[in-house]
Amino acid sequence: MTTTRRPIVAGNWKMNTTVAEAVVLAAAVRDAVGAASGVEVVVCPPAVSLFPVQAVLEGGDVALGAQNVHFESGGAHTGEVSVSMVASAGATHVIVGHSERRARFGETDEWVSRKVRAILDARLVPVMCVGETLAEHDAGRTDAVVTAQVRAGLGAVSKDEAHRVVVAYEPVWAIGTGRPAPPEGANETCGTIRSAVAHAFGPGVADAIRIQYGGSVTAANAATLFAQPHIDGALVGGASLVASTFGVIVAAAEARNR
Ligand code: 13P
Repeated sequence: MTTTRRPIVAGNWKMNTTVAEAVVLAAAVRDAVGAASGVEVVVCPPAVSLFPVQAVLEGGDVALGAQNVHFESGGAHTGEVSVSMVASAGATHVIVGHSERRARFGETDEWVSRKVRAILDARLVPVMCVGETLAEHDAGRTDAVVTAQVRAGLGAVSKDEAHRVVVAYEPVWAIGTGRPAPPEGANETCGTIRSAVAHAFGPGVADAIRIQYGGSVTAANAATLFAQPHIDGALVGGASLVASTFGVIVAAAEARNR
């Protein structure tokens, strides 16, 4: 397979960094990444830091993403932020359906689908997370789980716009454990996701859509993961909090693209 897909490496800072720390980290990431030719690079700080981080990143090659949004455009939703709010703070990307939100905050496939819809409507890029739990993995249900999540999450998306979505395959058992999925296994499941996209939208969209791997990605294992044909970058948690490490991961994605 010849791939022309532009790799995308995103740092999910999760619930880490104060505003001051986020600004310092963003500046360090900007400097570590430099001119990221051929790779889309995104950092996703906590919502309160979006606007100050945007000022640091402005004019550079690192884009800004939010970790979550509500699907409604406004109103009585205490504690939530809308797509237009994060966009007004400078975000161009939004993570949706992270397993931590699915498991701890009751985020359903239905909500994921509505969020993806709202993000596309605002011309931002949804980074839609899917992935199986350890129990599902051990029961041999990985393909069924991710296929169902992809179908449901993209349920309100048209064929013309589906290529704008980024899918992040994050096996729950690999997140924050220091035990990444074996590269071949991760590639196989990303291939399953691509097949689900092909089934829904046709082979052209499946060939164009980008699929990241996430779960214990480090500077040491990134290149091996990116060498896999179906893996188009990474959604990085812990390792994205160290600018130099994140820079090495971005460089590994650049090397893959040459
Ligand atoms: P870790 O890279 O810390 O395993 O986290 C992965 C993740 O959940 C990114 O969204």
